Amino acid sequence: MKNSFFKEIPILSRRQFMASSAGAAVGAGLALGAPALLGQDSGKKFKVGLIGCGGRGTGAANDNLKAYGTEIVAVADLFPEKAEGAARSFKVPKEKAFSGFDAYRKLLETDVDIVLLATPPHFRPEHLEAAVNAKKHVFMEKPVAVDPVGVRRVIAAGEKAKELGLSIVAGTQRRHQLSYLETVKRIQDGAIGDLVAGRCYWCQGSLWVAKRVVGTPSGSWSDTEWMVRNWLYFTWLSGDHIVEQHIHNLDVMNWFLGSHPVRARGMGGRQVRTDSEFGNIFDHHAIDFEYPNGVHIFSMCRQIDGCWNDVSEHVVGTKGRSNCGDEIAGQNPWRFPGGGQNPYVQEHADLLESIRHGKPINEARQVAESTLTAIMGREASYTGKVIVWEELMKSDLRLGPEKYEFGPFPVEPVARPG
Ligand SMILES: NC(=O)c1ccc[n+]([C@@H]2O[C@H](COP(=O)([O-])OP(=O)(O)OC[C@H]3O[C@@H](n4cnc5c(N)ncnc54)[C@H](O)[C@@H]3O)[C@@H](O)[C@H]2O)c1
Repeated sequence: MKNSFFKEIPILSRRQFMASSAGAAVGAGLALGAPALLGQDSGKKFKVGLIGCGGRGTGAANDNLKAYGTEIVAVADLFPEKAEGAARSFKVPKEKAFSGFDAYRKLLETDVDIVLLATPPHFRPEHLEAAVNAKKHVFMEKPVAVDPVGVRRVIAAGEKAKELGLSIVAGTQRRHQLSYLETVKRIQDGAIGDLVAGRCYWCQGSLWVAKRVVGTPSGSWSDTEWMVRNWLYFTWLSGDHIVEQHIHNLDVMNWFLGSHPVRARGMGGRQVRTDSEFGNIFDHHAIDFEYPNGVHIFSMCRQIDGCWNDVSEHVVGTKGRSNCGDEIAGQNPWRFPGGGQNPYVQEHADLLESIRHGKPINEARQVAESTLTAIMGREASYTGKVIVWEELMKSDLRLGPEKYEFGPFPVEPVARPG
């Protein structure tokens, strides 16, 4: 039956998508040059390629399959065993399982309609740029860069995607979560008056670390391999945990305030996770982000065991306050009644439906700005200086090697404020 697989959509994605600011912004229609995925062969499923076959990549691929009407037809990873494992899971033929630093290029040469980008963040700008040049629709995990040069590449690729009518959805899934969407709508309608302050946290314990392999029968890991297999701990690969994790909360702040910060002041350090196996990132940061009109958002993030934990966002207005997620207190109290779908699936449903209806979603700039917000916090913490948005956006800071290959690569020293 014509378009029959779309009838299986289990999710009210259209309504939520249009309720979101991203959806409203892209309602203008399909631009020239978009690949006409639907209508060509209505019985055909979208062909999806996965780049970065780790925990979140395979999770995103499964979420994409749950959304509706797709099949994973190609996979790519730096390491052959990861690509092969994902190929087995998703029943992808061996010849469509690519590995190496250029695996993404080989995948983009196949006939996939959509790519899922889920490598460590450092590689995202290059992969996104190549995906857009290859005219693929994109789901990309956050964060989308680790430095201002990468942020600008993502913004430029996003603009090109707009011209081509391609959709780009980012893995900042709170933007696709009904409870957040209902809360932000009320706040934008004035439920808590003018926003005057806020705070957000991502404070948790420690994470996994992969012990370096040295002198085993199967060989030793080079510096690059060791770093990429422990990408969380190297600023050039992850951006530091303030960028890699805390971006979720900072993105909510930018969304609710309808802006990005103008200045950041902060401090941080590496108090507990001091061993070299933890690379060169800090284990805590505390930042004061100044937004337009003198609104300050206080942010804290930490990855240290045995301390209080909290992952949350809050805003305070002249008539009340909100936890951003599901509750408003003050003159217009409200509580989210429940409902909505798993946001990790919803974001794919929104992506697929935008393609289906020829109304591209483009979240590239918004997630690039949230990424730069987090980078701004990191630089404030690393340097001890006041970081100004306009200057950072123009900065030539670029982290990581110019050329990717396995071999020696020295670890940059841990930042010393001042
Ligand atoms: N939205 C969320 O809630 C959420 C949750 C977890 C992770 N993430 C994000 O997803 C991304 C991946 O995280 P993860 O937890 O899956 O990490 P992971 O280490 O489990 O997976 C990363 C994969 O990328 C591969 N890889 C590394 N460099 C590559 C390259 N140059 N080309 C191709 N493949 C490469 C690795 O071999 C690995 O298989 C990160 O950006 C992370 O921040 C998002």
